[in-house]
Amino acid sequence: MTTPSLLILPGDGIGPEVMAQVRRIIDWYGDKRGLKFDVSEDLVGGCAYDKHGTPLHDDTMAKAQEVDAVLLGAVGGPKYDNLDFSVKPERGLLRLRKEMDLFSNLRPAQCFDALADFSSLKKDVVAGLDIMIIRELTSGVYFGEPRGIFNEGNERVGINTQRYTESEIARVARSAFELARKRNNKVCSMEKANVMESGILWRDVVTEVHQAEYADVELSHMYADAGAMQLTRWPKQFDVIVTDNLFGDLLSDLAAMLTGSLGMLPSASLGAPMANGRPKALYEPVHGSAPDIAGTGKANPIACILSFAMALRYSFDQGAEADRLEAAIETVLANGIRTADLLQAEGVEPASTVEAGDAVLAALDASL
Ligand code: IPM
Ligand code: MG
Repeated sequence: MTTPSLLILPGDGIGPEVMAQVRRIIDWYGDKRGLKFDVSEDLVGGCAYDKHGTPLHDDTMAKAQEVDAVLLGAVGGPKYDNLDFSVKPERGLLRLRKEMDLFSNLRPAQCFDALADFSSLKKDVVAGLDIMIIRELTSGVYFGEPRGIFNEGNERVGINTQRYTESEIARVARSAFELARKRNNKVCSMEKANVMESGILWRDVVTEVHQAEYADVELSHMYADAGAMQLTRWPKQFDVIVTDNLFGDLLSDLAAMLTGSLGMLPSASLGAPMANGRPKALYEPVHGSAPDIAGTGKANPIACILSFAMALRYSFDQGAEADRLEAAIETVLANGIRTADLLQAEGVEPASTVEAGDAVLAALDASL
């Protein structure tokens, strides 16, 4: 078997700092578990713009298409706020998602026991929470045409188009049902069928796919606004939530905060299987580039490390090794090691990014 390949795109802000800790974890798996990866590194986002005048060079795009998985840190920062829309750092990320056709975005919201006190919600609402939001990632209003700012009479009009085809809805619905079967067998689909035709079609197609192929999975539907309310009222009623690109963007930020900190949450963006059977895949933390703390050594590397755990599980069929890494993170938190974004016990200094990485490596060593 050939060595699996990983393209690492640390990006901007805290991206490079958290990714440095992931590289130590990757090395650990090579040394201690015989899991070797062929790792290459490249630029995305503002740093790519600085070097090439584009947030994603064509060569980088081509590399991303070839590797077994891409691991991304974060993109963006105030330095790039005034750039033309077409070369903003975010466009690099959106191009990767679109051209790799990563239609199914898995965003788990899992509350670690050691952090249940840290949520802004009451402890009993979030303790033990383990839900998965599946966000459609390559269509909808993010990409629909027509789009733009146009002149109409004597004023400007801004236009974006929500557009979904049946096949786009069906494939993301299938990924939600498949995943639910490996979890608690429940899917809740969210749209706004009360006001949007695309929502009516969404509900119809999800229902059709369910009846034809996944009748064993429990399916419910909710309007996305009511879904947001239910997510804060009693999130444990959900197992898998499947929703469109824009609602998924909003609902996943909301769900992330249930767990206490954005600094903890990973994501996987998956596409169709490649010739070797692995899905096209990109893994990234849900948090952004956090320019306010970039370079201070305060960033929490856990979301990015957990994104690598998702890569082990979904790209490399190493579920047991993913479990090992997730358990190591549990241990680190249970031992009270916390970066500055997480609540500290009285009188305890927060751990730095590197110290958090040290602690995860120590927990991994102890797991052998
Ligand atoms: C996300 C982010 C992105 C999005 C931005 C950075 C383009 O908010 O991944 O949730 O809107 O999809
Ligand atoms: Mg978002």
